[in-house]
Amino acid sequence: MPSATPCAIVIYGASGDLAQLKLIPAIYELVREGLLKEKFVLVGYARSKDKKVKGPDGQEKRVPLDDAQFRKDCYEAVKKNARVKPLDEDLWKKIESNFFYVAGGYDSPEDQGRLGARLAELDKTHQTGGNRLFFISTPPDAFEGIIKCLGERQQRKENGSGFNRLMIEKPFGRDLASARALNDLLHHYWAEEQIFRIDHYLGKETVQNLMVMRFANSIFEPIWNYKYIDHIQITVSETLSADDRTGYYDKSGATRDMIQNHIFQLMALVAMEPPVALDEMSIRDEKVKVFKSVRPIGPGQVDSFAIRGQYGPGEYGSGDKKRTTPGYRAAAKKQGIESTTTETFAAIKLFIDNWRWSGMPFYIRTGKCLANKLSEVVVRFRSPPLTLFQKQCDSAVYPNDLIIRVQPEEGISWRLNGKVPGGEMNIKSVALDFLYKTAFNVEPPEAYERLFNDAAHGEQTLFIRGDEAEAAWKVIDPIEQAWAKSPNPPEQYTPGTWGPKKAMDLIELDGRRWFQNADGEAEPIIACSL
Ligand code: BG6
Repeated sequence: MPSATPCAIVIYGASGDLAQLKLIPAIYELVREGLLKEKFVLVGYARSKDKKVKGPDGQEKRVPLDDAQFRKDCYEAVKKNARVKPLDEDLWKKIESNFFYVAGGYDSPEDQGRLGARLAELDKTHQTGGNRLFFISTPPDAFEGIIKCLGERQQRKENGSGFNRLMIEKPFGRDLASARALNDLLHHYWAEEQIFRIDHYLGKETVQNLMVMRFANSIFEPIWNYKYIDHIQITVSETLSADDRTGYYDKSGATRDMIQNHIFQLMALVAMEPPVALDEMSIRDEKVKVFKSVRPIGPGQVDSFAIRGQYGPGEYGSGDKKRTTPGYRAAAKKQGIESTTTETFAAIKLFIDNWRWSGMPFYIRTGKCLANKLSEVVVRFRSPPLTLFQKQCDSAVYPNDLIIRVQPEEGISWRLNGKVPGGEMNIKSVALDFLYKTAFNVEPPEAYERLFNDAAHGEQTLFIRGDEAEAAWKVIDPIEQAWAKSPNPPEQYTPGTWGPKKAMDLIELDGRRWFQNADGEAEPIIACSL
């Protein structure tokens, strides 16, 4: 990656989980890799003026949250969450004086004016050239205040000829209407070229590799269509529950939290037409076309195309990964939510009505408290003609699969049929594997490292464009609306499984099967069995 232009990075919501887990460690990694040089500052902005800490005597006390305390917190966050451990203490000593903290309200022009004044001072002391990279990582109800205050300050051109760029975390709206309203507000103050809507999946190395795989290899294009592919499945499953974050999660649910963004981005990269160029405009144009081509699911059809589930109580996992949950409903109740129909699992069957994908289904699913944490795309090709081996083979002949594993064990695997050595005509499905770890012998950067670096360069390809977010919501809205009116609650599922039974039916009634199925094993469909 090229090194970043000098700039001030401002994180709104700097005391939140995302900042501590991902954002601050990503900045440290960029410095460690030499991609962010001395001419940068990181300013954390949040409402908290003080915080509780444990003193040496083990007693808790409140201390002011100032630059010194913020630096201590950042040190702890980096030590715990940096990609490359252990933390480089000498490097940290050199850079910690580039970290600052400002406390203030998100919608207070006065408080944010103080932030502006601080940034102007830092421009002088750290030669950041007036360049500003703002990152909004707050709960969504704070977005409006921040955007307005920032927008007004940028209209006054407070930072001279320096750039102003705005990175904004999801959720980008909760339906088409709210996403439109947010876009309108942003566009009132900011040009689209200044807005960087985040979907961290696009920062993942394997997700970017999807495009390279498709368009830098000539073998895929001729067979990449409904004539050769039977169907495509995308699974993004998590073992973690949503028990500790029902406050956020209950307003969202699996479909808004994972499908409208992460899974749709995977689907768009798999399904899009080759772009005319590898630039931000051409690639994003093609992704928008995919969302616009998704066949709308009518209100009366939702139950046949979309399944929702909620995890019940139970113990799951094993060894040091053993977990217990009281179940989503009980966890929500503990946090004051009396009754909830928010889905923690969703599976949807979609069709993309264009020449390439005509009539070929995409099955997608995601959920919390499932059997495994994994994100993968499975491209299942049509079965070979059966006549040839039908009479001779004692074993099944499987269709070919191309498995694109986003995480864990990032890589690509082809499943082909091979003859088992010996006098019999026995056929077995074998895998040709490409694993990132062994093929390149490097650890891919964390998604946020790449995204920060790209935004600092003004490179927008890996960010969501405004019309793209809206087009994705347009697909989701009818499903959410039907669920909101439905008298049937989400089906309960047992933690540690692959979700509700209806999600199995969704694909099995079409004569197909999830690649990762109820037994937790990859099991292809038998194409030929004697
Ligand atoms: C976030 C969701 O966007 O992605 C979380 O809000 C989810 O609910 C997370 O856990 C998953 O990200 P990853 O990178 O661990 O697959």
